[in-house]
Amino acid sequence: MPWKRAVGRVLLVASVALTGFMGSTHPHGEDAVGPRGGGRGPTTLATAGDLTGYLRPLLEDWNRERPGEKVTLVELPDSTDEARSQMITDLRSGQGRYDILNIDVAWTSEFAAAGWIAPLEPDRFALDTFLPPVVGTATYAGRLYAVPYVTNAGMLYYRKDLLEREGERPPRTWAELERQARTVAPKYGVGGYAGQFLPYEGLTVNAAEMVYSAGGSILGDEGERVTVDSPAARAGIGVLARGVRDGWIPEAALTFKEEESRRAFQDGRLLFARNWPYAFAGASGRESKVAGKFGVVPLPGIDGPGTSVLGGSSLAVGTHARYPASAKDLIAHLTGEPVQRRVLTEGSLPPVRASLYEDPELVRRFPYLPALRASVLSAAPRPKSPRYEQVSLVVQAVTHDAMAQHQGPGAAVRRLADELAAVTRRG
Ligand code: GLC
Repeated sequence: MPWKRAVGRVLLVASVALTGFMGSTHPHGEDAVGPRGGGRGPTTLATAGDLTGYLRPLLEDWNRERPGEKVTLVELPDSTDEARSQMITDLRSGQGRYDILNIDVAWTSEFAAAGWIAPLEPDRFALDTFLPPVVGTATYAGRLYAVPYVTNAGMLYYRKDLLEREGERPPRTWAELERQARTVAPKYGVGGYAGQFLPYEGLTVNAAEMVYSAGGSILGDEGERVTVDSPAARAGIGVLARGVRDGWIPEAALTFKEEESRRAFQDGRLLFARNWPYAFAGASGRESKVAGKFGVVPLPGIDGPGTSVLGGSSLAVGTHARYPASAKDLIAHLTGEPVQRRVLTEGSLPPVRASLYEDPELVRRFPYLPALRASVLSAAPRPKSPRYEQVSLVVQAVTHDAMAQHQGPGAAVRRLADELAAVTRRG
């Protein structure tokens, strides 16, 4: 601990002890295992970009109620990869400027294994009220390292108006989507389909969904075995490669992250888009050209609905957090029912609390909730591996090459299998 911080801590602890703020008078009593003991005071919360701009006002309410435990929001870049690397830089420096980290579910194991985040007491957080698959994304080696905060599943956004005019229903299979993208989209001068195809974590998600939705897998046995070399993976990656080759996936989509695909869809430039539920708010908003003209359904598959990758983020306490007791109280607050409701109504993000998906008032306002619930419950995690980051980089690179027509899908999937085998052998 840098000496300034150490001295500061002693003074602060002394002053809070004097004001009688700590101890058994606090509603939650003493905190069990603070990474650096208990302690209450101000915190910082680091998160990837808040795309719907709801979080600051939400935290201001907490700050009004707990002036001695104010939280400062640190917004990192939108892309999950960039947010991750900035968090890691801070964690590695030992400065611990971020007390609470809103980490992508993709990074839980890595952060926990590196000792950057501290284990938490499960009893504190009413985990049995969460959607079941969500809790698994926050555990590592049998312990809870974060509390799920938002969940996520990929959905298919489609232009209801255009499909209805053609007497078509939203596609349930990739073959139907491909046919409609080829025939309907050009009639209306719009692109066929886009997802998140820039090489970054988003492309790993899109590629995994294609492979899973075709009935394949990427790794087995906790990352020990490479299972991707299959007809299903070739079929799944093949759809994406063919889409670009045949023009129903616009070439520009090879540079899209979430925000670019959201804008393309809400500006009326696409018949279909794969995106997360947060895009619903923009597409129904005042600036949208497609408000009232679109629908949202589960992702297509081979013979029926496909499989989404389970996304979302969880709140973790950094090992160097200054006031772990305050950090944990804030996490309990943010994952409690009232705030989770606002996560949906103000943030347009999928809450982790199961009951909200069946609340009639919310279902009226957010008609995609039942489809989203089904997608989350049937979603599959990303390939599990202690070297997940390298696995993800390989999946992105190879899928992007196949989509850019540098390699046919068969050769690409074989190369993917070889490169994944090399990654899993390293270690
Ligand atoms: C969303 C998901 C997250 C995923 C990311 C990929 O933020 O919630 O899990 O890794 O998109 O871009």
